[in-house]
Amino acid sequence: MRGTSSFLIVANRLPVDRVGDKEWRRSPGGLVTAIAPVMQRRDGAWLGWTGAAGEELKPFDHEGMHLIPVPLSGLEVELYYEGFSNATLWPLYHDVVAKPTYSRVLWDAYRAVNDRFARAAADAAAPGAVVWVQDYQLQLVPAMLRKLRPDLKIGFFLHIPFPPAELFNQLPWRNEILEGLLGADLVGFQRPGGASNFVRLSRRLLGLQNHRNEILMEGRTVRAEAFPISVDFGELDQLVREPRVLRRAKEIRAELGDPEHVLLGVDRLDYTKGIGQRLKAFGELLDDGAIKPGEAVFVQVATPTRERVDEYRRLRNDIELRVGRINGEHGVIGRQPISYLHQSYSKEELAALYCAADVMVVTPLRDGMNLVAKEYVACRHDLRGALVLSEFAGAADELRQAFLVNPYDIDGLKRAMLAAMRATPHELARRMRSLRRRVATHNVDKWASDFLTALESGEGVAEEQLTA
Ligand code: ADP
Ligand code: F6P
Repeated sequence: MRGTSSFLIVANRLPVDRVGDKEWRRSPGGLVTAIAPVMQRRDGAWLGWTGAAGEELKPFDHEGMHLIPVPLSGLEVELYYEGFSNATLWPLYHDVVAKPTYSRVLWDAYRAVNDRFARAAADAAAPGAVVWVQDYQLQLVPAMLRKLRPDLKIGFFLHIPFPPAELFNQLPWRNEILEGLLGADLVGFQRPGGASNFVRLSRRLLGLQNHRNEILMEGRTVRAEAFPISVDFGELDQLVREPRVLRRAKEIRAELGDPEHVLLGVDRLDYTKGIGQRLKAFGELLDDGAIKPGEAVFVQVATPTRERVDEYRRLRNDIELRVGRINGEHGVIGRQPISYLHQSYSKEELAALYCAADVMVVTPLRDGMNLVAKEYVACRHDLRGALVLSEFAGAADELRQAFLVNPYDIDGLKRAMLAAMRATPHELARRMRSLRRRVATHNVDKWASDFLTALESGEGVAEEQLTA
């Protein structure tokens, strides 16, 4: 039996996450931020996990989206999600900034869960439907789905970096992952480097022929291309013009003691985000006397994430220790230089925070894109505010007018933070105008329509163009 969805998103998570028995809240992360507005504007269904273990729910509608839950048992959450996805692939694909775990038990669970997602997608998709599979948790789904449903147009988008051979080759199941991805008609990456790593690896490891970014796989053509993801610029730009958001931004500054400079970090509490490096730099600026007590406050919002994975537990301890030390050494009664919040916030509260911040500090050690940087830009129609941005975030390819930094270089980071705090309004406006131009014209709708147009218009490659 065939399903009825002619457009289907397949992602590890649904856009909402289960809280208790009855309530839902927005799921964490950039994938949901980007895909939710795209889905709200299209007819289709979204297939994914509810974030709770052992729960079997019927399909339901939520905020204009049709959602189809895929169940995961407690053991699968541990082995497939926390294990292979987040203790093997996540660190490997992010430059091995933490040591990946290689375990056959985790791999078996990854394969089994990918198979479940592929079957659920095969059941839900209408004949000839477009199925768009998302991210590193589901890299085997394209090939599994093609086997079950060769009539479908299958796209895949990787939200995180795709590593070079020197790193990818560590993976004991490297060929299986490549073959899984090659089940798609179009494989999308954040940066051109990811696409060329993938083409090169397909050639070297699987001996496939290609013509530029098109790979010949079992008589089909698979295209690999970069599609830099983005944010809903229009929605954020509107939101921050609301008087209640502006009022809230003022209130936040007042609650912080109306310092001259408010610096802000907003991240999942992830070791790839360089939170420790930015706090170290800020702490040293206080130690050096470059920032006077009370002159600047650093607000660090760190959303809880993957809390049962060891590396994340360790990171939380490290960050909280560092925050405690800096506040202990430089705080006074009732006022502390770092305001640390281990919580999730609504879109509106985040927008108010972005408006309240003079300097947005985004310093990942490696990041597929980083939507926080683009959200900040979308919120600053007043042309004030400075963006300090790591050159190792995908967003750095586009946001060239940010204060670009190497987050491993603490002195460089300190200089960039000071330069951002001391820049004249004229310089800030010049930079922000150019940043906004980029994000306004390359918003999330453009990202989705570029990808889907490329997927639907895919053509084959002529035999004589191929290189081995
Ligand atoms: P990642 O996908 O690795 O989490 P991104 O920067 O691309 O990183 O996306 C993070 C998304 O999560 C952004 O849309 C951001 O607004 C949102 N977010 C981050 N921290 C919070 C928080 N504390 N509460 C709510 N949303 C958050
Ligand atoms: O690409 C970013 C991403 O890894 C998504 O795939 C993921 O859904 C999100 O961040 C949040 O992580 P998690 O789903 O593990 O909470």
